[in-house]
Amino acid sequence: MTQELTSPSPAPQAPGTGRGPGWWRDAVIYQVYVRSFADSDGDGIGDLRGARERLPYLKDLGVDAVWLTPFYASPQADGGYDVADYRAVDPLFGTLQDADELIRAAHDLGLRVIVDIVPNHTSDRHPWFQDPELARQRYLFRPGKGESGELPPNDWESVFGGPAWTRTDRGDWYLHLFAPEQPDLNWDNPEVHAEFEAIMRFWLDLGVDGFRVDVAHGMIKAPGLPDIGHGAQAQLIGAQVLPFFDQDGVHAIHRAWRRLLDGYGDARGKQVIGVAEAWAPSAERLALYVRPDELHQAFNFQFLNAPWQSDALRSVIDASLAATASVGAPTTWVLSNHDVVRHTTRLGGSLARARAATLLMLALPGSAYLYQGEELGLPEVTDLPDEVRQDPAFFRGGRATGAVGPGTDTESAPDGAAAGGQDGFRDGCRVPLPWSGELPPYGFGPGGSWLPQPADWGGLTVAAQTGDPASTLELYRAALELRRRLPGLGDGPMSWAPAPDGVLALTRPGLLCTVNTLGHDVGLPAPGTPLLSSAPVTVDDATAQLPGDSCTWWAI
Ligand code: NOJ
Repeated sequence: MTQELTSPSPAPQAPGTGRGPGWWRDAVIYQVYVRSFADSDGDGIGDLRGARERLPYLKDLGVDAVWLTPFYASPQADGGYDVADYRAVDPLFGTLQDADELIRAAHDLGLRVIVDIVPNHTSDRHPWFQDPELARQRYLFRPGKGESGELPPNDWESVFGGPAWTRTDRGDWYLHLFAPEQPDLNWDNPEVHAEFEAIMRFWLDLGVDGFRVDVAHGMIKAPGLPDIGHGAQAQLIGAQVLPFFDQDGVHAIHRAWRRLLDGYGDARGKQVIGVAEAWAPSAERLALYVRPDELHQAFNFQFLNAPWQSDALRSVIDASLAATASVGAPTTWVLSNHDVVRHTTRLGGSLARARAATLLMLALPGSAYLYQGEELGLPEVTDLPDEVRQDPAFFRGGRATGAVGPGTDTESAPDGAAAGGQDGFRDGCRVPLPWSGELPPYGFGPGGSWLPQPADWGGLTVAAQTGDPASTLELYRAALELRRRLPGLGDGPMSWAPAPDGVLALTRPGLLCTVNTLGHDVGLPAPGTPLLSSAPVTVDDATAQLPGDSCTWWAI
């Protein structure tokens, strides 16, 4: 490691650093799915250098931080969520030096950097799993059932489809809640705890500002690994506590990590955070992950899964705010990520709804995560040929819903409207970004792109949308700029205002936000002066016409 790598760049000094209100409480954090963001070397795969070169775009967009998906050494059986070496950068994505330079460049621009940590499982190529003795202690091996142990130890299913157990040449079985190439770690072993704390310190020493904790609800399994008793388990994830997910024991791990993060940050005068990717059956159980001595944020997937209906949205917002307020935490909103159908498509294939949903999200108190490409209004790509697909769920007969939780596809869409053309797998939301030009790879890099981009994305590129006030990109830019200009919009109070059926109205410091979830115009007394709208709003004689499927921010 070079000298430079050993002295981390300081985190940006923005409001919220140091003790007191945390920067994360209202941060807008942009998810960079590294493989699909920007390719610097022409191999068709996005990389760290490509991401670094595009950081000014993110600064200009107006986000506060970036979350980088796994770029660690990995056989890529699950898009890098199968890590073989947690301290090395996969050559596909660059070098440790590239990671260091990216973190420094982000900090120079005032952007914080969050990286993934994957503690539920490793790759089967991890040295621990390769060594039979170590593997037996550090993973979950069990004898099989049946006369000669030919049956799996229990009835658990992999969320990618098929049994959650694979038999080894030695005759015993190991647990993998995801792909067979992702064996689950044994968190009863203190060496596993020690190793993950050391990995965190490694990346903190390189200057990162926090971790997105993969499967934060998964590390602890119910004693005795009991059967569940019926199939279709993937559909139960996030709907009920399962013997392998959302066990109370995971919270002790998060408490230990919070002590580590606080201790590390305190010693350096910065605040480093943990964000839980946790699928919990209720807002109350999710809030347990963000108690004052646990992680800082937890993605609110119940909001992501809410149908485009005013009552449903209002109740999920109320339940989320109440649950997080009860533990003194902010709510962490999200509409899209690399595991779910892009919200333009999920919300009935309607860009109008997607734009409105985003403006609603950015008007809510708390933090928000954006997924690369949503600021361009990208739809899910639903016609990828089978031969280019890489989602392991595709090959195991699972579904995207099973990969991460329930309701990420048709059942969450109003009137089943999102059903058309969706296949339930995750490659369609991972198609590389279009930056410029009329033809693929649209400036993604000097070569091609690892998944084919649609031929009609020329009008969706960053270059095509920049400067066009009607574009989705400019809507995001304007919303993020207003969010910065209106103090208290991020982490301040919120109350509901009266509104007609199908419409939501909520008051925030400095603005009122209306959302018309109906497919047609709704008239109401103008609440103020329009500041920003997802669709052209008209005000005549003090009556405002809210277009169908729109959201407007009003100065009050
Ligand atoms: C959640 C990640 O977001 C997803 O992409 C991955 O497949 C699973 N966890 C397993 O690591």
